[in-house]
Amino acid sequence: MDAISIGLLGLGTVGSGVVKIVENHQDKLMHQIGCPVRINKILVKNIEKERDVHVDPALLTDSPDDILENPDINIIIEVMGGVEETRKYLLRAVRNKKHVVTANKDLMALYGPELLAEATRNKCDLFYEASVAGGIPILRGLVDGLASDRITKMMGIVNGTTNFILTKMSKSGSPYEEALAQAQQLGYAESDPTADVEGLDAARKMAILATLGFSMNIDLDDVSCEGITHITEEDIDYSKQLGYTMKLIGIADRVGEKVEVSVQPALLNETHPLAAVNDEYNAVYVYGEAVGETMFYGPGAGSLPTATAIVSDLVGVMKNMRLHINGRSAGAPQYEKNLKNEDEIFAKHFLRLHVKDEIGVFATITTLFAQHSISFEKILQLPLAEKGHAEIVLVTHRASLKNFHTILQQLRDNELVLEIKSTYRVEGDDKK
Ligand code: NAP
Ligand code: HSE
Repeated sequence: MDAISIGLLGLGTVGSGVVKIVENHQDKLMHQIGCPVRINKILVKNIEKERDVHVDPALLTDSPDDILENPDINIIIEVMGGVEETRKYLLRAVRNKKHVVTANKDLMALYGPELLAEATRNKCDLFYEASVAGGIPILRGLVDGLASDRITKMMGIVNGTTNFILTKMSKSGSPYEEALAQAQQLGYAESDPTADVEGLDAARKMAILATLGFSMNIDLDDVSCEGITHITEEDIDYSKQLGYTMKLIGIADRVGEKVEVSVQPALLNETHPLAAVNDEYNAVYVYGEAVGETMFYGPGAGSLPTATAIVSDLVGVMKNMRLHINGRSAGAPQYEKNLKNEDEIFAKHFLRLHVKDEIGVFATITTLFAQHSISFEKILQLPLAEKGHAEIVLVTHRASLKNFHTILQQLRDNELVLEIKSTYRVEGDDKK
């Protein structure tokens, strides 16, 4: 059988990994699909650039047409990143009957349904395993492995950069900027790391996970999102003292037919399996009604781990080609989107505030919470260095987000409260 011919869009961190795996694992690929795999052309921005990986310079091009319009190319691997231009390339690719494998969560979170529909119309596969949690086969885990179950909750550490930064800050006391620079150097961060540290990268991945896990079209705008840039050393210290670890957590939760999807830094009970996920590692905790607790763990970023997911998708496309069943795997979602309101989202909350150290302040705060039927699980008051000021730290029992936000507003309006220093969701105390 003739070789399968690949067009690669991008030869950066992930593209270089793809080239290495295709070269180094050729035997295994041949065994699985019965023919050699050849990279035919590689699109880059700058042909003259020094590369980490050796490729024949004749393979490089800066013209997308050399790949998108090339009749010899069967499959396109997109690892160039970007959204608008890339969307046009991939639409052209499937219209030209080329199967697509992509690692691009920015693109899939925004235009996934459109691209998948166009691929299906053209009997092409469009696989995107590498777009969520790098080397962890979580999308296949959800779609195939848990196909028979009803998933009710997913909690994910799905951004390697922020997990790396938070691990360095809490375990080695590294300053934020230093930890971020290290994550960039190691190739975990996006070219502009704002999307990592502001939680947007994780939000994109959670939109993809929730869409597949709940079989509902969840848009990026449906995911509430908060990053890690405001986390302080004090917050990390308090979380440790209270038996928690600070993590950027994506949460997708379903109660009945209603769902919520969010990304935020949270205090995670240190006995929860996700609390042991450190450095650039990712994990997705999935709770299914029948299976109970499962967790998928592994490297969430980096050249070879991400490339592994891409080349595995490539094998999937090639197996489908052999069976002549390409373009049949992306089914339409089963359910209409049905999002929870704020008064249907329940969680425990951590709150740290500075108050005037006066008689009655403690009572005022506890009364305020009681009026909204929120009770405390933990509360402590400590004097601050500045005379007449005190710090109050508390963890609530489960309360609706609506009630908690109302209380925050009333605390801000109260003259005894000097400043609300921080609030975090508290997770992992109970199963599910
Ligand atoms: P990268 O290192 O910045 O590489 C991007 C590559 O694409 C470069 O080779 C660049 O060419 C080329 N490129 C970019 N824009 C182009 C354009 N307009 N025209 C032609 N070529 C263009 O990025 P990366 O880290 O490999 O990430 C690639 C994709 O994988 C992104 O979607 C990212 O979100 C996703 N991803 C990355 C990781 C990771 O760990 N890095 C993990 C999972 C998913 P030059 O080399 O000439 O500049
Ligand atoms: N910047 C991303 C991360 C790369 O840190 O997780 C993997 O998607």
